[in-house]
Amino acid sequence: MHIAMVGYGRMGREIVPLCRERGHTVVTVDPTAAGADFRELGAAALCGVDVCIDFTHPESAIGNIEAMAAAGVSMVVGTTGWYDKLSVVKDVVASSGVGLIWSPNFSLGVNLYFRLVSAAAALFGNADGYDVMGYEIHHNGKADSPSGTAIKLAQLLVAGVKAKTTPVYGMLERKPLPEELHFASVRGGSNPGLHTVLFDSPFDTIEVSHQNRSRAGLAWGAVLAAEFISTRKGYYEIEDLIDSIIGG
Ligand SMILES: NC(=O)c1ccc[n+]([C@@H]2O[C@H](COP(=O)([O-])OP(=O)(O)OC[C@H]3O[C@@H](n4cnc5c(N)ncnc54)[C@H](O)[C@@H]3O)[C@@H](O)[C@H]2O)c1
Repeated sequence: MHIAMVGYGRMGREIVPLCRERGHTVVTVDPTAAGADFRELGAAALCGVDVCIDFTHPESAIGNIEAMAAAGVSMVVGTTGWYDKLSVVKDVVASSGVGLIWSPNFSLGVNLYFRLVSAAAALFGNADGYDVMGYEIHHNGKADSPSGTAIKLAQLLVAGVKAKTTPVYGMLERKPLPEELHFASVRGGSNPGLHTVLFDSPFDTIEVSHQNRSRAGLAWGAVLAAEFISTRKGYYEIEDLIDSIIGG
């Protein structure tokens, strides 16, 4: 397969070597990054391309999606921050006949962890005497807090645990209300991302954690997504890729 890596920043530089290890050829497109093959996403960059992988910037995402669709090229969209335009993107995919798969988090481990947490919430959420809470730890360079993954986890827990209706993030300078789910964020050091959910009774504690080691897991998932979308048309989310991998 011939891939165009659109955005040759931190994620692009992780993804390109993995694509080559999997036997794919790659060109890189980036207006400013050193070493990129093309400065713009035009006909020259897209010549012979089967799939584009976009990890650029929220402000570029929609323009890039439209350009790739207009060229008839299917795509993996890892860029975040454009989700208020999801209905526009679905229309672009439907009218152009390309394939698109997107996710705010392409880590297979994280996406399987989400399923594990949902299953745990269904078990402990219906067992008397278990409270639920969570925390996440990230390096001191992370700009946002709580993490997007923490928000998703809190949503899954609220959906699965009857007694909890309201996620509360950050520091709680009072006792939590029974319906509140407290999910705290800690920043410092160089941890690339730890998320832990706890189910706690007077007798025991069950912890369900995911510890990232690097960005490599995110890059790996994006390459698998490129292989997935290369044989499909239409709109897909990460759940479709996970189902195809685990036979769901
Ligand atoms: N979905 C996931 O799993 C996942 C994981 C990590 C990061 N991200 C997201 O991916 C995006 C990129 O992250 P990053 O850490 O690689 O950022 P980065 O800043 O290191 O790299 C982005 C690169 O995109 C380039 N770029 C900007 N506009 C472009 C355009 N129109 N065409 C081509 N290149 C363009 C920039 O010059 C830069 O080199 C962000 O939105 C980030 O939130 C998603």
